Amino acid sequence: MRAKIVWLMTNSCAGDSISFFNALHPDYRQMAEEFFELSYDTFVMAGQGHIATGVLVEFLEGPPDSFILVVEGSVPVAAGGLYCVLGHVGGKPWTALQAVKELAAKARYVVAAGTCAAFGGPYAARPNPIGSKPVSAVIPQKVVNVPGCPVHPDWIVGTLFHLAEYGLPRLDEYNRPILYFGETIHDRCQRRHYYESGMFAQEPGEPWCTYKIGCKGPVTHADCPVRHWCGEHANWPVGVNTPCIGCT
Ligand code: SF4
Ligand code: F3S
Repeated sequence: MRAKIVWLMTNSCAGDSISFFNALHPDYRQMAEEFFELSYDTFVMAGQGHIATGVLVEFLEGPPDSFILVVEGSVPVAAGGLYCVLGHVGGKPWTALQAVKELAAKARYVVAAGTCAAFGGPYAARPNPIGSKPVSAVIPQKVVNVPGCPVHPDWIVGTLFHLAEYGLPRLDEYNRPILYFGETIHDRCQRRHYYESGMFAQEPGEPWCTYKIGCKGPVTHADCPVRHWCGEHANWPVGVNTPCIGCT
């Protein structure tokens, strides 16, 4: 049986959804037909208004543990959460804060897709007037954090598949799957030998180690140097001569 996914987009640029739908192995069609049932996802669903929110209400009134909740985006808590409203229920605005809390209490697993949901991201940067928080700061349940700006398609699809088929993957101290975030960028970087021999780029575009122009690879955990990004895994930040900014 395909795992049911409820994908809530809170305050987000939609980059993580775009990344998810750009997965190649499996691609969207395979995901939707064979692995997952995207029960609620405003990015692709046809329903709007109460028809859309009605799907969420059904999950709230249905049996527990019947779906995986994915949250993309940070959750604003100022003004009672009114800076992000997902719909109206009973004539009242249904805030992202309420929706995340209520749905997380019913979900089998809760996944934070992307850095905003996992750690707050740019939304939670000072002065943060709307009180943006990561998902883990607004609910008591365990959150599987799959960060990245955006999240890599493989990281989110792989994590969802693992949850659906095998349960919780091994997680690190930030609740990120060790499968993808177990080692630092620096550990696996192709320019590590330049670092060790002191050959540093002085500006972006130079083909040496980017440490002296701000590379966060030594303190950033992700497998970008070996997984790569874009379509058929074409390249990654340092590979195109720009420092890792530590997006995960
Ligand atoms: Fe480490 Fe960054 Fe230099 Fe690569 S480019 S060796 S990750 S400091
Ligand atoms: Fe992000 Fe650094 Fe990878 S900026 S995409 S973690 S190389």
